[in-house]
Amino acid sequence: MPRAAITAVGHFLPEERLTNADLEAMVETSDEWIRSRTGIRERRILRDPAKATSYMATEAARDVLRKRGIRADEIDAIVVATVTPDMFFPSTAALVQANLGASNAWGFDLSAACSGFLFALSTAARFIECGKHSKVLVIGADKMSSILDFTDRTTCILFGDGAAAVLLEPDESGHGLVDSIERTDGSNWSILCMLGGGSLHPPTHETVDRNLHFLHQEGQHVFRYAVQGMADVSAEIMKRNGLTGDDVRFLVPHQANLRIIDATARRMGIGMDKVMLNIERYGNTTAATIPLCLADWESQLRRGDNLVLAAFGGGFTWGAAYLKWAYDGADVA
Ligand code: UT7
Repeated sequence: MPRAAITAVGHFLPEERLTNADLEAMVETSDEWIRSRTGIRERRILRDPAKATSYMATEAARDVLRKRGIRADEIDAIVVATVTPDMFFPSTAALVQANLGASNAWGFDLSAACSGFLFALSTAARFIECGKHSKVLVIGADKMSSILDFTDRTTCILFGDGAAAVLLEPDESGHGLVDSIERTDGSNWSILCMLGGGSLHPPTHETVDRNLHFLHQEGQHVFRYAVQGMADVSAEIMKRNGLTGDDVRFLVPHQANLRIIDATARRMGIGMDKVMLNIERYGNTTAATIPLCLADWESQLRRGDNLVLAAFGGGFTWGAAYLKWAYDGADVA
């Protein structure tokens, strides 16, 4: 059975930066508080109201096609992980398919909050492994600014907008996705959610007045579960694949909080020099964090490098993946 290997990475970030100093002027907060509690200095914001998640996802996908040198009609399927789709339906994947002119691709959105990219990667990998498809785009994209309450200092400082994408292709030489762990536990759903807009609370004047169309998070509670969840699955995937800290080239963690990432690295027995970190520049871009890291570090990645990807997010959802990297990133960059 072939493995599903990432053969290209692309990304898109809006130009506009929202710094901690900008936020100091909007809510009662400080650069010092934000940096020490989260590790974030600035994030990107897609200000143009006419542009949404599908725009960023399409640009990230175009970057992938360009770097891999393939045409849109060669794509078999498009999976978009997002919690901020342009609209309920059609899917963001359908909009991306049309924008790209990916005339032979089918596609769908996958909703798993901050674990969205990991879940999409492991779902899409199955299409490659069973031989049904040979080119699948996996995209993580979120316009978090569209669901943030910029008067709530506990959430608006955390998130940013962005998108990144990878191409999956079959690999017969042992490179690609080796193993993955996926977990869901809905029993604590209400401490990280957006209540309004769905079939339980369809939009009304009342849901708007009650702020139900904004992201809600009880940060401290989520923090405790996240530290435990992300570290547990990362340690578990290493153990069952016989990996030690020395064998891992990079941890590629979801970027929600520097302290959660630090705890995960410590459980894995790896130093922070082997952790991909860009939370400082982009904040938490939800489904885009992990592929944005891959895009930023691509030039340093070598064929055969062992990567552990790990995420925790709303649902709760969490998981880890073990990849054997398939190409020399320096050749592309
Ligand atoms: O990506 C999906 C999963 N999400 C996560 O993994 C996020 C997990 N949670 C976190 O990362 C952290 O809980 C936060 C960064 C959200 C908050 O950090 P914390 O250390 O847990 O702070 P806290 O919520 O316990 O708040 C501590 C204090 C409170 O004041 P009092 O009650 O001690 O007087 C807050 O009101 O900090 C206050 N506070 C702020 N102060 C300045 C909360 N937000 C801010 C702010 N600026 N932006």
